[in-house]
Amino acid sequence: MNGGAASAEAVAVTRASLMQNLLEVSIDLSASSGRRQMLEMILTEARRLSGAQGGSLYVRRGDRLEFVVAQNDTLDLSGHPGMLSGMGLPVGGDSVAGFVAASGQAVNIPDTFRLPEGTPFRVDRRFDAAVGYRTRSILALPLVAPNGEVVGVLELVNRAGPDGTVGAFEAPEGSPISSLAAVAAVSVHNVLLSEQLKQARLDTIIRLAVVAEFRDQDTADHILRMSHVCALTAKAMGLSADEVELIQAASPMHDIGKVGIPDSILLKPAALTSDERRIVETHTLIGAEILANPSNQLMQTAGEIALSHHERWDGGGYPHHLAGERIPLPARIACLADVFDALATKRCYKGAYPLEQVVQIIKDQSGRQFDPAVVEALFEVFDDVTVAY
Ligand SMILES: [Fe+2]
Ligand SMILES: [Fe+2]
Repeated sequence: MNGGAASAEAVAVTRASLMQNLLEVSIDLSASSGRRQMLEMILTEARRLSGAQGGSLYVRRGDRLEFVVAQNDTLDLSGHPGMLSGMGLPVGGDSVAGFVAASGQAVNIPDTFRLPEGTPFRVDRRFDAAVGYRTRSILALPLVAPNGEVVGVLELVNRAGPDGTVGAFEAPEGSPISSLAAVAAVSVHNVLLSEQLKQARLDTIIRLAVVAEFRDQDTADHILRMSHVCALTAKAMGLSADEVELIQAASPMHDIGKVGIPDSILLKPAALTSDERRIVETHTLIGAEILANPSNQLMQTAGEIALSHHERWDGGGYPHHLAGERIPLPARIACLADVFDALATKRCYKGAYPLEQVVQIIKDQSGRQFDPAVVEALFEVFDDVTVAY
């Protein structure tokens, strides 16, 4: 009994982490789109107004500050993307930005090498050390949303005078830089709100899709994993961030049509007759009907996937015997991700196949059941894919 409880707990933990993973992928993707450009523009304008050589913008997520954009006139930052993205900070930690986020107070440091005794923060020199820079003056402003929440920090470094010498920043109170910080706060707040909306949308879709999966004795985890595999594969195929996100959000609904298949057939413990199999196959048509007349691209893609995820590259699938590129790409990707997950995990009718055997089956079916380009993409990111298995 204890074992059962422990494994139920393990399943819950896996599900939670997969869900988190799924949501994080989606957040990453949105950060890479036009919103990032907007944050870059805000930072550029803040630097122009203040005369700062460099600066960074942090967005607050929970008790962390996430580094979003950085600029510096005297450095080429393109060589340090990994280091920059890894530079998150705790709110309320001893860093300048962490202090500003926690206290909601602006900090103006004329000379970081001469911090007064008892200063409640310290200057993090990791970045300077890595790129050979000397941060002398800092102006860090909290980004305070209209509801009073600190949603980020704008940090400007090294105010350069006309002759290039670095000096102190002007006091921010009542200056244009404060007005800009207020605008930046509204923008960042909007980004965070739209991320929350996206999360809510994805969460709703997954829960709806789970309804259909539960009827089939598949698990909710199946659609979480399958959708994650879809996203990784689509990304490896070079699809845009928006397209990847669309497939990721739409693929959980692939078997939604199973809600229309009678229990006596769907849950039959014995082999199906050919008539019964034909009825099960109509879950593709039922799914397409449920998702018909889409009001948005997400539902349209979900409809394509629901209808065509059992089509085969060689034309031998169902319901319409489409072949090759006549099968919509999202459905070709979902098809492989769906089968991959079914093979690699335990089902009520079979054990989990070892990964080597799964790889062999997929290779054998490349160009037959599966689009070879999709197979190639899956294998390209196979290490990332198999983390969840
Ligand atoms: Fe299906
Ligand atoms: Fe499935």
